Amino acid sequence: MNNLSVSLLGINFDNPLMPASGPLVGTLDNLRFFNDSTTGAVVTKTISIEAARVAKPCIVASKHTVYNTELWSEKPYTAWTEDILPEFMKEKRKPLIVSLGYTAADAEILVPALTEFADFFEVSTHYGKDELRPLVSTIVQHTDKPLFIKLSPHVEDYIGFISEAVKYGARGVVAVNSVGPGTVIDLKRRAVTLGLEGGKSWISGPAIKPIALNRVMNIRRAFPDLPLIATGGVASAEDVLEFILAGADLVQMLSAALINGRRVYDQIIEDLPGAMARYGIESMESLRKTPLNLEPQGQGGHPVIDHDTCTRCMICVRVCPEQALSLREVITCDTHKCMRCGLCQSRCPVSAIEGVL
Ligand SMILES: Cc1cc2nc3c(=O)[nH]c(=O)nc-3n(C[C@H](O)[C@H](O)[C@H](O)COP(=O)(O)O)c2cc1C
Repeated sequence: MNNLSVSLLGINFDNPLMPASGPLVGTLDNLRFFNDSTTGAVVTKTISIEAARVAKPCIVASKHTVYNTELWSEKPYTAWTEDILPEFMKEKRKPLIVSLGYTAADAEILVPALTEFADFFEVSTHYGKDELRPLVSTIVQHTDKPLFIKLSPHVEDYIGFISEAVKYGARGVVAVNSVGPGTVIDLKRRAVTLGLEGGKSWISGPAIKPIALNRVMNIRRAFPDLPLIATGGVASAEDVLEFILAGADLVQMLSAALINGRRVYDQIIEDLPGAMARYGIESMESLRKTPLNLEPQGQGGHPVIDHDTCTRCMICVRVCPEQALSLREVITCDTHKCMRCGLCQSRCPVSAIEGVL
C-alpha cells in the first residue's frame, strides 16, 4: 500500500480517482484507456436491457459546466456481456465497477449476466422510495458483489433513502448524479441548443461541486462507516482531497474531462502527492479519518492587504459589495463601510489579502 491507496470492502485501489459513468466509459476502447491510465478503477456507462436512443446533439459544455441529455448506454446489454466485457477481462488490471439501470425487472436479467465481470455494482436510482426496495432487493438476490446505489441530488430525504437502501442490502453509496433540469438557449436560432421533453438537460461539472460536497459530508455524518464514492464537479487534486476530507472513500470524475480532455485523470493523480505535501496530508486513509471541522476557522476581521504582494489589479475594488476598497497610493479599506464578508480575499488572484477568511 502506498499513501494514495485505498482499501474498500476488501478491494484495493491504487489511488481514489476513477471515471464516473458516462460517454468516456461506453466502449471497449474507452474502457481500455482507463485500464492503461493511472486511475484507481474503471467504471462502465450505465448498462440496460435495450440500447438507449439518444436525441442529438446531447452534450455541450462551457468552462465550468456540462449540460447533457444522455440516457444509458447506446448499446444493448448483450453487446456488453458478449463483446465488450469479455474482451476487457482479458486485459483487466484494476477494479471494475459495473453501472446498471433501471428497474427491478431489468435487474433480474442484467445482474446474472454481468456479475462475473463486476467487482462492485452501481445502480442509478431515481427519486421514489417505492421503486427502491424491489430494485435493490432484486440486485442483491442475484449477486454476491457489493451494490452501491447512485443518488440523485434531487432526493430530498436522502438520509432516509439511503437507510432504506441499506436495509434492503445496498453496501454503499455513490453521490451524486447530475443536477437539474436546466436549459441551454441558442439565441441566434431562437431555440434550445439541446433538450429532452421541452428543452430539459442535466447539469454537471465544477458548478455542482458544492452540492455534491454537501451531500457527501452529510451522508458521512449520518453513516460513519458506509462505503461512499463521491462524484460531482471534481477537476483538480485539491478537489479529490476535499471530497475525501468530507467523507468519501473514493472519487469519480467525468465532466472536467469532457471540458478539458481525458488527460486530466493522469494529471490529477500526478498532482496528488504534491497537493498532499502542501496541505500536510500523509495518506488518503489518514485524511479520510480526519474529522471535518464544521465551524469556519476564518478570522472575520477587516481585510489586511500585503502591499508588496498586491499587483493593484483592482479586482477587490471592483467586487467589494460595500465599495469599501479603493486605490489611493495602495489599496485601502474603509473599515466603516467594510462588512467583513470575505469576498475580496476569496477573489484576490495573488493571495495578497488576509484577515477575513
Ligand atoms: C454526458 C454525461 C453522461 C452521463 N451518463 C451517465 C450514465 O450513463 N449513468 C450514470 O449513472 N451517470 C451518468 N452521468 C452522470 C455522471 O456519472 C456524474 O454523476 C455527474 O456528471 C457528476 O460528476 P461530474 O461533475 O464529474 O461529471 C452522465 C453525465 C454526463 C455529463
